[in-house]
Amino acid sequence: MAQDLSYVDSVLDRFEGKKGTLITILQQVQSHQGFLEKEALVKVAKSMGISTARIYGIVTFYAQFRLTPVGKHLIRVCHGTACHVQNADGLTEALSQELKVKNGETTPDNLFTLDSVACLGCCSLAPVIMVGEKVYGTLSTDRVRKVIKDYKKKEKAQ
Ligand code: FES
Repeated sequence: MAQDLSYVDSVLDRFEGKKGTLITILQQVQSHQGFLEKEALVKVAKSMGISTARIYGIVTFYAQFRLTPVGKHLIRVCHGTACHVQNADGLTEALSQELKVKNGETTPDNLFTLDSVACLGCCSLAPVIMVGEKVYGTLSTDRVRKVIKDYKKKEKAQ
């Protein structure tokens, strides 16, 4: 069965004929399912008249792009300066222990992906993580463990 790439078409249609929009197009394509699938990249490359190799060069250069699927809950741990000095490394370590995955990995049940990112834009709440679109600030390692335990509990209850 042919893959449904209509979401890529609708993004490309929106930007047709506009210059300097490749990164925005890739961001919007990625927002559909949290990562960039190969077929979507091939389609974007064709439509923009650039090679697939070039587009891979671009998406692997920028940390914001993912080439593999993410879990149901994407956990982004901020490692920007304000969060770094407030023990962001400790939060990543605590989450890594709690979820039994390394940074950048997804749990085998596909529920959680752990990711380090640059400033999330709410430095006054440092250290900060986001789970999906929800922000958790002024965290300690104990509190961050609790946040994830609550998510796990909710998942079990479903
Ligand atoms: S440095 Fe973490 S939110 Fe800005």
